[in-house]
Amino acid sequence: ALTAAMCEEKYRPASTEMIPGTPAPADIYASDADVTYEVMLRGAEQAVQNAAADAQADQASPQIELLENGAVKLTEGNAVSFWHYAFLTGATKGAFFPASEDGQIVPGALPTDRLYIRCTLAGTDTELETEPQTQEAREAKDALIAEHKAAREEAERIAREEAERKAREEAERKAAEEAAKKKAAEEAAKKKAEQAASQSSGKTSAEIAKLVEENRSAWTAELKKQTYYIQKNLERYLTYKAKNSSKSWAAVVQAVNTDIDRAFYTGVVATDMSKGYLILVNKYHNLKSSYVPKNLVSLSGYGSGQMEKTAAAAFKKMVDAAKAEGISLRSVSPYRSYSTQQSTYNGWVAKSGKAKADTYSARPGYSEHQTGLAVDINCASQKANFQNTKEYAWLIKNCYKYGFILRYPKGKEYITGYVYEPWHYRYIGVEHATKVHNLGITYEEYYAYYIDK
Ligand code: DAL
Ligand code: ZN
Repeated sequence: ALTAAMCEEKYRPASTEMIPGTPAPADIYASDADVTYEVMLRGAEQAVQNAAADAQADQASPQIELLENGAVKLTEGNAVSFWHYAFLTGATKGAFFPASEDGQIVPGALPTDRLYIRCTLAGTDTELETEPQTQEAREAKDALIAEHKAAREEAERIAREEAERKAREEAERKAAEEAAKKKAAEEAAKKKAEQAASQSSGKTSAEIAKLVEENRSAWTAELKKQTYYIQKNLERYLTYKAKNSSKSWAAVVQAVNTDIDRAFYTGVVATDMSKGYLILVNKYHNLKSSYVPKNLVSLSGYGSGQMEKTAAAAFKKMVDAAKAEGISLRSVSPYRSYSTQQSTYNGWVAKSGKAKADTYSARPGYSEHQTGLAVDINCASQKANFQNTKEYAWLIKNCYKYGFILRYPKGKEYITGYVYEPWHYRYIGVEHATKVHNLGITYEEYYAYYIDK
């Protein structure tokens, strides 16, 4: 390491007299204490940069920082006294050394570059200070301080604008990213819908149209033989058959009648409210968010919640009849408002994801519970295994007599869009419930053929 003596020997300038009031280096070196310098000089920023670069090559470099007023502050021990020496003697050439080509400090240069020095020897009383000696130098000092202040403010302004610009760009980038994601998702959904539309037949729409035209009369004849044939669905039957050549005629009629020739939640229409107790609410027919059934009454004494008046009376009658046979039934979830369904559905989505939730929970507006005509009896969970209870056996045998049907039967998930729900019953009135019971079909199939044809 460099010692003070070595520094002095090596870098001693020819003269220090040229800077009036400059403390003699010897005064500094006389102390072993750490030295703090505050030096104002032109080119301070450059000096700091130079010093930082030097610091990498030379462990003896001082800690150096640019002060608010534009002065440079050095904090270091005597080991790097040559730095101090250079300052004190004005050997800075406007910045730090090397000042000459051979690496030697050129002493005595540019005294006005160093406008003042405050030098404190830690742990001693020594405080050496030089202030500018001439009016010109004082003005130069003030000008330099002002210049530094302006430069600092300018730098701050630039930094602020830069930060604002970056924030703006980041926000724009994020928005663009979101938009791109949304677009990609839309395109993927569109593609999926198109694929679903062509039903893995791999046929183009032109090929499908051609197939339909070639087979129109023969296929129509077959379709017309089907029990649930509906004239207004003919074109859809033909197209569906063209896409699904291996499907039976009965399956084609069933698929189109129940709308599953298109993806769930596509081509949704408003539920036809004129159908009264026979309204259809499913993944293709929905209710307005504002829809609230008239005449909701409490099921108090028969479980929780409310149902539409007529449905409630039928439910109570059914519960009483069951009770007489030693079967205990109660409502656990009858009418649910749009907003209740919304939070119910969102809760399931949060828990198991949208795709899974859609298999057992209706989206708001798509739930039969909003009609006031549906009721979950005794439980509403697969885990309850309600299908194994005597209550379920009783309901399956008797519910139609009170106007109720099992709405989401086992094995009909592809039609209803929901997993088997042994607890969910729907009031449609005794006459129709009896027919549905006897026919053994879903309400989707019944509605298409007997109610909406
Ligand atoms: N669990 C039935 C499908 C509903 O949410 O309405
Ligand atoms: Zn239910």
